[in-house]
This record gives sequence, C-alpha cells and structure tokens, in this order.
Amino acid sequence: MEDLNPPLRVLLFICMNNQPDQIINPDENLESFLDQTLRPDRFDEYIGQENIKQNLKILLGAAKGRGHPPEHILFYGPPGLGKTTLAHLIAKEMNAQIKATSGPAIEKVGDLASVLTNLSAGDILFIDEIHRLNKAVEEVLYPAMEAGSIDIIIGKGPSARTIQLDLPPFTLIAATTRIAMLSSPLRSRFSGGVFRLEFYKEEEIEKIIERSSRILSIKTDLRAIKEIARRSRFTPRTANYLLKRARDLAEMKKEELSRDITEEALSLIGIDNAGLTSSDRVLIATIAEKFSGGPVGLSTLGAALSEEQSTIEEVHEPYLIQCGFLERTPRGRVITEKGYHHLGLKVPANIQEKLL
Ligand SMILES: Nc1ncnc2c1ncn2[C@@H]1O[C@H](COP(=O)(O)OP(=O)(O)OP(=O)(O)O)[C@@H](O)[C@H]1O
Ligand SMILES: [Mg+2]
Repeated sequence: MEDLNPPLRVLLFICMNNQPDQIINPDENLESFLDQTLRPDRFDEYIGQENIKQNLKILLGAAKGRGHPPEHILFYGPPGLGKTTLAHLIAKEMNAQIKATSGPAIEKVGDLASVLTNLSAGDILFIDEIHRLNKAVEEVLYPAMEAGSIDIIIGKGPSARTIQLDLPPFTLIAATTRIAMLSSPLRSRFSGGVFRLEFYKEEEIEKIIERSSRILSIKTDLRAIKEIARRSRFTPRTANYLLKRARDLAEMKKEELSRDITEEALSLIGIDNAGLTSSDRVLIATIAEKFSGGPVGLSTLGAALSEEQSTIEEVHEPYLIQCGFLERTPRGRVITEKGYHHLGLKVPANIQEKLL
C-alpha cells in the first residue's frame, strides 16, 4: 500500500479494516434461532436431496485434494428446504469459516467491497436472497467471482482512477427462492454448480420428524409422525414447526403425542388435511369465486388478496402447484379441478379451456 497517495491509503484502510458487523451475520430472527437447534450439522444428518449431496461430495472432495476452496455454488428453491443448512454443512466439511450476509444487507458497492476485503483465505461467503442484490453491487461481484479481484473507482470525473485489489481465494455460496430474478451473467459465474432443491418425499420428512422428536425429547407415535409428514408441505421447516405445535398441545393436555392430538393441534392452527394454510385456501378460493376460476394475473390477484406478489410466488404457489390445485398459464393463474374439489366447490363446465 506504500506507493498509494495518502487519501487512497486512508480509503483502503477503512475499506479493509472496517469489519462490517451490520452486513455480516445480520440480526437473526427468533424463528431462525429456533431453526438452529434442529439444523443438521453433519452431512449424514441431512436427510434427502440425494443428488445434490452426491454432487457436493465430488466437488468438495476434489477441492480438498487440490488444497483449494471449492468453486462458487448457488442453491435455489422454495423456503425452508435446506439451502442455508447446506451452506453451513459445506463450511463445516471444508473446515472453513463462514461469513453470512444477504442481498438486502449489501446496499452499496462499498458494503460489498468491505465484506470481500475482510475475507481470509479459504473463507466461505454466504449471500442469502442473492436476487435482491442491486445491479451496481452485482457488477462488483463478477470480477470477484471470476478473477478473485475487485475494481475500486477512486474519485470522480476526469481525475477518477480504478485500482484493482486482489482477494484471498474464497468460495461464494448463494441462495435464492427466485432463480428467475437472477441475471444470466451472475448465474453463469457459479462454476461449482447451480442446484435446485426439491420438495422432500413423505418418507424423508418422516425421518426428519423422527430426528427432531429425538432432539426435542418428544415421545411420538408413528401415526402422529405420518400425520405431520402428510401435512408438512414436503418441507422440513414446516414439519418441524408442526411438530412443535402438536407437542405444545400434547404437553398442555398432559398426554402423549398421538395422531388425534396432532390432528386437533393442526386444525387449531388452520392447517388442513392437504397441508394448506388458511391463506393458501383463501388464495385458490379467491381465484374460484372472484375471478370465475381464472386466468387471473399476479398483480390483480395480489391486489384482491392484499398480499405481496413475491409472497404469492415464493411461499404459496410452489406448494399449490405441487399439489395440483393451481396452474400457471400464459394468461395467468387458474384453479384446477382438483383445487375445486379440495375446496368442496362445484367444478365449472369450461375448466379445460381455462387450463389451456
Ligand atoms: N435435509 C434436511 N434434513 C433435516 N432437517 C432439515 C433439512 N433441511 C432443512 N432442515 C431443517 O429445516 C430448517 C430450515 O432449513 P433452512 O433454513 O436451511 O432452509 P432454507 O432453504 O435456507 O430456507 P429459506 O429460503 O427460508 O432461507 C433447518 O433449520 C433444519 O432444521
Ligand atoms: Mg435460508
């Protein structure tokens, strides 16, 4: 740094030494704190997603062999399927330090520069909700991912100059629920792999519930486990949440967690026998009743439900589509025959035309 002029030296000093506490590991909320106790901390405790685990095993094994951090990895898929968990497992497997942040926490180019320049060799940088990075920040990330350096522009106008800073070798692991919002230049820089997390199989969810019951010392019977699994949206986070709510009722009644208690507890919190929440049901009922079954555009639907479009797309739709209750057509969202049946409504005669 000696040959730099004094103001530049000061700027770089601030950039490299200002540990960005508010950017790295931003406040974890209570739900994510609860997640920690049940979060698998070894690969062999991570149930399901076999294909991803197999690919990661090869990627991490090869990286270890070369004595280099693994290449950059992107995980995508609906909430609660285990993306953050995988990032932590990779860090553990590589014996690496993980620094976690998120798209919205990195507001300015300087925020990212400060995060990157504070990395040590071999670190894993985890960026959650990467689809929410702004364009200017994203462009700084490109050379960091590709060439392991960043360009910093110092000054303004004709006297502006660019300096290149080399970064220590690191791995970026990113997660998103909205892969379509990622630009293709960004997507293509995840040279280690872009992995889509799938909804779990019912048997896998049952294993996850058994494991969580053991950790939380809950005595469960097999039928209770199966009932929770059936209504869990094939999602580990939901399964764990339902298990805890059923446990609460069992404790209050001073009884064991049976299937009856489970059914009662889940109905009390509005989860029906297909795992739909009351908001899911309102969503398809609105399409059926207010929009004659659809097609209806996302913005119109959002306005009718007073719900954010992103919540509809990220939280409700994937599971409703998976259940076959809703379809996305080029003209908008349409409730299916199965959806009408689930709500106990009469199926209109022209349903096939709508689905085309
Ligand atoms: N494969 C798995 N086996 C066992 N438990 C799991 C698995 N995947 C996830 N879980 C449980 O589900 C919780 C939620 O997982 P995680 O936070 O990794 O999901 P996510 O995909 O990052 O969600 P979001 O998109 O909301 O950030 C974890 O804390 C863990 O308890
Ligand atoms: Mg996460």
